[in-house]
Amino acid sequence: MAEAIFPLEVKDLRVTFGEHAALAGANLFIDGHRRVVVLGANGSGKSVLLRVLHGLILPSAGSILWARNASRPRSQAMVFQRPVMLRRGALANIAYALAVNAVPPEEARQRAAESLERVGLSHLARRQARVLSGGEQQRLALARAWALRQRLLFLDEPTSNLDPAAAGEVERIVAEIHATGTAIVMTTHNLGLARRIADQVVFLHAGRVTEQTPADRFFVSPASPEAAEFLKEELPWNGASPRSSPA
Ligand SMILES: Nc1ncnc2c1ncn2[C@@H]1O[C@H](COP(=O)(O)OP(=O)(O)O)[C@@H](O)[C@H]1O
Ligand SMILES: [Mg+2]
Repeated sequence: MAEAIFPLEVKDLRVTFGEHAALAGANLFIDGHRRVVVLGANGSGKSVLLRVLHGLILPSAGSILWARNASRPRSQAMVFQRPVMLRRGALANIAYALAVNAVPPEEARQRAAESLERVGLSHLARRQARVLSGGEQQRLALARAWALRQRLLFLDEPTSNLDPAAAGEVERIVAEIHATGTAIVMTTHNLGLARRIADQVVFLHAGRVTEQTPADRFFVSPASPEAAEFLKEELPWNGASPRSSPA
């Protein structure tokens, strides 16, 4: 396991594409081994936030501190909505990721086999990764991330291309990855999944975090009017709006 990375402190993070601010000053604080779910409307900046935190996009301004340190230790992995697989077997995809992360070959083979077993894909170890079903590929992507044994896993809409059974598998695996010591930061449109997984909810609106709230409180009475409006639209059966918005 790599060195400590928490707390993760994000201050006034900005990402602009041309004139457009995808993140317009986002703040975030993750104090440890959490399951954080990032919610917000389409285009609110969820994917951009995860990509910046994972180092795939450079911020235009703002700071990201890992364990009060500005230099970024490699201790996170990321899984995307569409799994990115190399043209080789399932097991070999995991072993390759471990090799890139300087894991010795013998240990890499062992860890790859173990993580494949944990996601229920041992029987497909030699199958070409790119011919696996969408659900199997997503489980393989999770196994690959798991095998890296990072402190934090970013998941961007990991179930949105999957049918309910495959989504359920992903949910079970994410819960296990968390239980084995990896913090989770996940975006999703599936509010049922969000409720079952989250300790905390981060709500994004127009590139800003309007609130970061314990999940049990968020779904009952969100702190920000933007989140209240979002929940009212997404969960109309919840009844009356948790708070009335100013006229
Ligand atoms: N590579 C890019 N170039 C230009 N605009 C982008 C790029 N990536 C994201 N955006 C814009 O940034 C905003 C936030 O996008 P995104 O984070 O993908 O939203 P979401 O919350 O749906 O994941 C959107 O307006 C999107 O169009
Ligand atoms: Mg997105």
